[in-house]
Amino acid sequence: MDSKKVRRTQIQDFKPEKEHFRAEVLNGLRKSQKELPSKYFYDKRGSYLYERICTLDEYYLPRTEVAIMEAHIKEIVELLGSNACLIEYGCGNCAKTRILLDHLPVPAAFMPIDISREQLLRVAGELVSNYPGLEVLPVCADYTSGFELPAPKRPSDRTVVYFPASTIGNFDPVPAIDFLNHIAGVCGPGGALLIGVDLKKDPRVLHGAYNDREGITAAFNLNLLERINRELNADFQLEQFQHRAFYNPGEGRIEMHLVSLRDQVVHLDDLSIHFAKGESIWTESSYKFNLDEFVLMAMAAGFTVEKVWTDERQWFSVQYLVKTTGENV
Ligand code: AVI
Repeated sequence: MDSKKVRRTQIQDFKPEKEHFRAEVLNGLRKSQKELPSKYFYDKRGSYLYERICTLDEYYLPRTEVAIMEAHIKEIVELLGSNACLIEYGCGNCAKTRILLDHLPVPAAFMPIDISREQLLRVAGELVSNYPGLEVLPVCADYTSGFELPAPKRPSDRTVVYFPASTIGNFDPVPAIDFLNHIAGVCGPGGALLIGVDLKKDPRVLHGAYNDREGITAAFNLNLLERINRELNADFQLEQFQHRAFYNPGEGRIEMHLVSLRDQVVHLDDLSIHFAKGESIWTESSYKFNLDEFVLMAMAAGFTVEKVWTDERQWFSVQYLVKTTGENV
């Protein structure tokens, strides 16, 4: 673990090593359906492209989530209460967190967790300047694997985890329950989770959201190959792969793939990876939920859904879950 100064705060650094990245890439590319973990999208350029995606007309998720938060912020902060320790998984640029921080009485501490170190450093510094009195304890980590949370100076009354953007949809169903269960453990007794959950809707809307006219989502998807070339010394020819995203109604998810445009061989270290024309690398799943499905998922993970806010069209939801008490959890 490595500690670096960020203005008046320090970053806890559990960023995965390059060797771990290499092992996961090789493991994914050796499978019969080749795949790559979507968490590796977020290098510096990937984080920038994701921020651009979030401003696109077709990508309705962030603006719908923000509108729901703003419409119900009074009720949300009342439920979160005062003197909470607020932990955010995958904080990105913390745009939505600011809505909470602008309205909450100063929390005991705020712990933003993200895999993208550069962005986390910048955002943590900005929060320290913008919210005097707030203890900001940034943690650079792949939050799906092991890391430790720092100890805040001020004792808190409860732990509240914030997990916006429907990132829960980027997990397959069983890992999603395991991950929510891990969060329930972090929340502890009396703790809660505020989570953004994208809902099932007309597949044409979903298709548009992941196939934008400007091609930013395509660039975001292809950037993963560029990152692998740069960091792992591979020789993917980007122009020989094409972005493909479609809604799989049976599974209730958007699938993103990179499709090989010809028979080709890519080299990574001493490994030769063969691609047939039309063969794909599966780079991301983005599950969409019915409200009832999510209740069951939350229950299986040790949470009770206490409150759900949605927009008029029921495209997106913000949900307040409390850790279930009792012996069956
Ligand atoms: C971060 N995550 C919720 C986004 C999503 O919609 O699944 C990532 C993304 N992929 C393509 N566009 C945005």
